[in-house]
Amino acid sequence: MVLKIELLDGQRHIRSDFSCGKDSLDTYLCKQATQDLKRKVATIFVLVDHPQMLVLGYYTLSAYTVHISALGEEFAKHLSRYPALPATLLGRLAVDHGQRGKRFGEFLLMDALKRSLDTTSQIASLAVIAEALDGEALRFYLRYGFRQFNQHPMKLYLPMKLVAGLFAR
Ligand SMILES: CC(C)(COP(=O)(O)OP(=O)(O)OC[C@H]1O[C@@H](n2cnc3c(N)ncnc32)[C@H](O)[C@@H]1OP(=O)(O)O)[C@@H](O)C(=O)NCCC(=O)NCCS
Repeated sequence: MVLKIELLDGQRHIRSDFSCGKDSLDTYLCKQATQDLKRKVATIFVLVDHPQMLVLGYYTLSAYTVHISALGEEFAKHLSRYPALPATLLGRLAVDHGQRGKRFGEFLLMDALKRSLDTTSQIASLAVIAEALDGEALRFYLRYGFRQFNQHPMKLYLPMKLVAGLFAR
């Protein structure tokens, strides 16, 4: 089995058996993802085992804006006072239930962060934003350095400077 992260291809990748335990994330992958890709609402990257082509996990990325007041003071004080600031939304991240604990979640997260960072050489983005569906997801993101939004503790951000630091080592 060879693992690869690829842009979702509705014809080649097998998604029908994907189940991460959260209905909204399963339904999204099977029913909505290719539409979002086509309409440029989100890019969907899938972790696939070759040659079976089964989807073992996925994440989505989109352009996003964030209000400066949502961010922590320490981070915000270095930013320009524009009403809306550019960011990258890691909208969804999920690993199939049967594949948990194999560091696939971490692998997908690091790939999403690296891709977000690489994109900043063309389109500026000051942070990666994630939304946690529940307490477990929140703990997952917090362990990788994400910080909670001021008024919305289930919404998190990781400053792009910290992302750059991760990959500078
Ligand atoms: C969260 C999720 C992506 C983690 O995937 P995974 O492949 O099982 O996680 P990994 O094997 O990569 O774990 C990496 C580290 O995170 C920890 N971790 C994994 N899931 C965790 C969770 N729910 N809460 C806290 N820590 C978690 C692991 O213990 C491991 O830590 P270690 O470095 O001390 O060993 C997966 O559980 C999932 O798909 N959950 C349902 C969907 C979801 O909640 N998505 C997140 C936001 S929408």
